[in-house]
This record gives sequence, structure tokens and C-alpha cells, in this order.
Amino acid sequence: MEFKIQQKPTNKHEVYITDDEKKLSQVADLNKDELGFISTSFAADQTVVTINKYGRFVFVCMLKSKKTEAQTFEACRKMGAELCALSNKYKIAEINITNLTATPNAALLAAEGMALANYQFLKYRGEAKKLTNSLTGISFSKTSATVKDVAQLATTVDAIYKARTLVNEPLSYLSAEQLALEIAAIGKEGGFKVTTFNKARIVKEKMGGLLSVNRGSIQPPTFSIMEYVPKKALNKKPIVLVGKGVVYDTGGLSLKPTLNSMDRMKSDMSGAALVTGAMYAIAKMQLPLHVIALVPATDNRPGEEAYVPGDVITMMSGKTVEVLNTDAEGRMILGDALQWAKRYQPELVMDFATLTGAAAAAVGEHGIVCMGTAGEDTKKAFRDSGYRQYERLVEFPLWDEYGDQIKSDIADIKNVGGATGGAMTAGKFLEHFTDYPWMHFDIAGVSFATSKKGYYPIGGTAYGMRMVLDFLMHYSKA
Ligand code: BES
Ligand code: MN
Ligand code: ZN
Repeated sequence: MEFKIQQKPTNKHEVYITDDEKKLSQVADLNKDELGFISTSFAADQTVVTINKYGRFVFVCMLKSKKTEAQTFEACRKMGAELCALSNKYKIAEINITNLTATPNAALLAAEGMALANYQFLKYRGEAKKLTNSLTGISFSKTSATVKDVAQLATTVDAIYKARTLVNEPLSYLSAEQLALEIAAIGKEGGFKVTTFNKARIVKEKMGGLLSVNRGSIQPPTFSIMEYVPKKALNKKPIVLVGKGVVYDTGGLSLKPTLNSMDRMKSDMSGAALVTGAMYAIAKMQLPLHVIALVPATDNRPGEEAYVPGDVITMMSGKTVEVLNTDAEGRMILGDALQWAKRYQPELVMDFATLTGAAAAAVGEHGIVCMGTAGEDTKKAFRDSGYRQYERLVEFPLWDEYGDQIKSDIADIKNVGGATGGAMTAGKFLEHFTDYPWMHFDIAGVSFATSKKGYYPIGGTAYGMRMVLDFLMHYSKA
């Protein structure tokens, strides 16, 4: 599925964004009656007003400033979602956006909201043709967006679409091996290198965490390594992204209760989808950064050979783990990936994982729980990117006492930390496998939507992608 975002106006339908009604008199498109109608509609707090000129549509939007700039930006994106719904309702294919406001990026932000809201996953629908949105593209009036901004937005949207589709694919299609194939294909298209480890190689590398989770499965695990090397990198040591690639999480022998709790578990590879999409965008935009991404992938099932509560597993690092809950599988596979990252002597490592229900319970669908050992400046840069993109972060602590909760009587550590502090005890587990500046992003609450929310459709959201790309773009400027 593709969405065209270009700078040249190509079409007859128009969007005007204004922050002051008076500015609308500059718009040749609108007559006195229409201006009066718009005025009354704005007075009644409508944000988008539709003028139907017998087959040619003009949408006039009022952008009110909010308390913070970030909130005004987000209002623009949400306006875009509204414009997307209207465009499809009126069977519009392409539309042009003009920014009349004092917010320089208003048209871009509205376009972002429109494009992200227009995503569909119709692969398994018999009536796909009929259901397909009419909207296929957006263009901008001359001064409303720069060529560079437009290209960047188009790539970001493309990356998000790709990540959402990976999340939406069910296990019946997306096995660990298929995920590795998809990653390789995206690498080819985006222009970065992909190396795939099969089971034999994973055994050879002694990735005990990944292998133990895979034991109950009928399908082999994979480990994908993506690498983008620019012509001239600003970082001497690479940045490493790690994504949890559990293509389905039944809980294993510590089976999840059947009532609803497994319904969305095809999305347990959202971290993998996010880092793959991010690599695509990084390579397409040719960011001057050397970036590597790692995806350990398997499903988690209670097959005959499955690892059991009480097992002691030796991880790739050599550390032993007492498994007390096979449903705490994400940290088992991530432990090996974080260990693997050490060989690059990375400047910074970020992992993205649908790791704990506790993180989802704490912040719900409105932000990402993060924690880590990166410096304060790095943490602030992440926080700022989160606000700018409205994919917000809440930092949780990595206090020693949470580490005490995962001490084991029989092994070095155990994979569960008791009834409280679940997001942090998971973080402490991961910390054992790091020796570099590191940030962990628990996206369990935000990666999958069960109802449409603004520009996030039902299903995979790729929430966090814009945050991390924003972070990397600023990183490459700093
Ligand atoms: N994939 C789940 C976490 C999850 C829960 C993601 C809900 C999205 C929505 C993870 O593997 C898991 O099962 N975590 C357990 C850990 C526990 C057994 C220590 C959890 O959070 O309950
Ligand atoms: Mn689990
Ligand atoms: Zn899981």
C-alpha cells in the first residue's frame, strides 16, 4: 500500500488551515456566503468546515493554539485524521493543503495525520477493492512545506505503514522465518544490509534465551541483524536498536488465560516491526549515522519440548536464569540480543519491546514506559522527541531494590520479580546483559489499538517510530 506525498499541487480539492478567520479573505476560492457559513461554523467550535462546490471540495480548518506547542502540533495531526475521513467520505483521491497560519509546519503536520489515518490492512478481505480508501495522495501549496520536509514525511509514513503491516500479519503468515524474510526484503528496498541467523547458527552462538523460548514451538527461531553504514558517519561507534520479535505469545506452559488475553498476541513482535521500519527510514533518508538493528524472533508456545517453570537456562552471556514463568519470554530473547550488541562497543543501545502488562497498566495507551542507563542529556533528548511527536515517554526507575526482586536461590537471576514493580523488574533483568549506555522502551500499552484513535487505526500503530526517528535526526545534527 502506497501513499503519494508530493510538493507540487496536482488537484482540484483544497484544504486551507487558518488560525484567524480574517486570513480567509485571501483565499480566492471562497465567496461571501461561504465565508459567512465558515464563520458561523467556527463560532460553533467546529474545526473542519466542508464547502461543497458541486464536486469540488474545499475544507477550511481552524487551528487554535493550545497550552503548549506540542499540543498545537498534535491538534494539527488530529485535524488531518478528520480530513482523511472526510476525503474518503466524498471519494476524493488527491487533495492540496495550504497553510495560512503562523505555525510554519501546520500543513505538514495535517498531512502527517491524514496519511497516517489513511492506512488500511485489507490483505485478507474479499471485498478489498470496494473497501479501499479513495484518498491516495496529498500535495502542498508552494510555501506550505519544503521539498526536504515533504520527502522526509513521505519516508516516515512509508516506514510506519510497513511496521503496522508486520504487526497486523497474523502468525498463520508471519512465523519467525517469515519475519526474517520480510526484514531482508525491507532491507533490500531501503538500502541496508541484512544478515539472518537460522536455528543452526543460533545454536552455534549459544543463544540460550532465544532457544529456550523456542523449544515449545514447531517452527525454528531466527535472529536478524540489520546494518546501515552511511558514507560519512557522525558517530564513531554504532547506535544499536533491538526489537522484541515474539511473533506470537501464548505464554508457553505458563499459558495465558484464554479469555481475551491472547487476542492481540500476534502483536508481540511490535518492537521488531518498529526497529525494522526505523532502519528503512534511516537508510532512505541517508541519515549520517551508523546504525545496527537486532531482532531475535520466535513464537512462545507450550509444545511438548517447551521450557518449564523451574528450568535453569544458560544465556549466551553465560549467566544462568531460573525460569519461574514461561510467559516472561521477552526478556529471555532480549537478554541474548543485548548481549550480542556488546560486540559492537555501541555508543547507545535502545530496545523496543511489548514487554510487560505492568507498563501497559501504568500508563495505558497514552505513552511509553522507558528506563535505562543512558546519560541525562540523552534522556532529555528522548523526552523532547516524545513530546514533539506526541509519542510520549515516562521514565521509570532502575533502583537496586528491583534488582533484589529477581535474585534466585538456584541461578544467577530469575525471570520474574513478584507481584509488584513488574515493568522495572523486567528492566533490571535486561540491564544484566548491558555494559553500554542503554534505553529500554516498553511499548506494551501503545503498540496495538483495539479501536481507532485519531490517526492511529485499529491494529498495529507503530507508536514510537516518529519519536525515535525524531531523536536520531536531532542526534545527527547535534
Ligand atoms: N507480551 C507480554 C506482555 C504484554 C501484555 C504485551 C499485554 C501486550 C499486552 C509479555 O511477554 C508477558 O507476558 N509479560 C508478563 C510478564 C510476567 C509473567 C512477569 C506480564 O506482563 O504479565
Ligand atoms: Mn509473555
Ligand atoms: Zn511477550
